[in-house]
Amino acid sequence: MKKALVCSVCGHILLTKSIPDVCPSCCSGTKIFKLFDEKENALHTKEDVAVSGETEKKHLPVVKIVDIENGYKNIYVTVGEIEHPMVKEHFISKISIYIDNELVSMTLLTKDLKPETNIKVKTDSKNISVVAQCNIHGSWITSI
Ligand SMILES: [Fe+2]
Repeated sequence: MKKALVCSVCGHILLTKSIPDVCPSCCSGTKIFKLFDEKENALHTKEDVAVSGETEKKHLPVVKIVDIENGYKNIYVTVGEIEHPMVKEHFISKISIYIDNELVSMTLLTKDLKPETNIKVKTDSKNISVVAQCNIHGSWITSI
């Protein structure tokens, strides 16, 4: 598990060490971020998957990055090496992509969508992280 700050208004997870004036996701004001380290709400990592069972393998984002033309990268994300279920009671609600710990993309999902997203972004950075949020099992991060 990893410690992180989370917006108490929208649930956006901060990966930066500094706290911004407003939430980059919902633009709510200051003093809205709280420490996100309680076991049931932790930001889970691949180390958690290693000590867990099959269910946890359905949550860790799988990230494929391909260099394309003019300095762009194609970042393709699926959730889980075993695809996460997408049903009314249990689904992936959000996939967030960070470059150099700054939010660059957030995909909101409903039960009717596949747990995946795809962006094309111009960047030279090799510091890319993806967070998937499950409505039951919390948040899961993959960092490249
Ligand atoms: Fe789940």
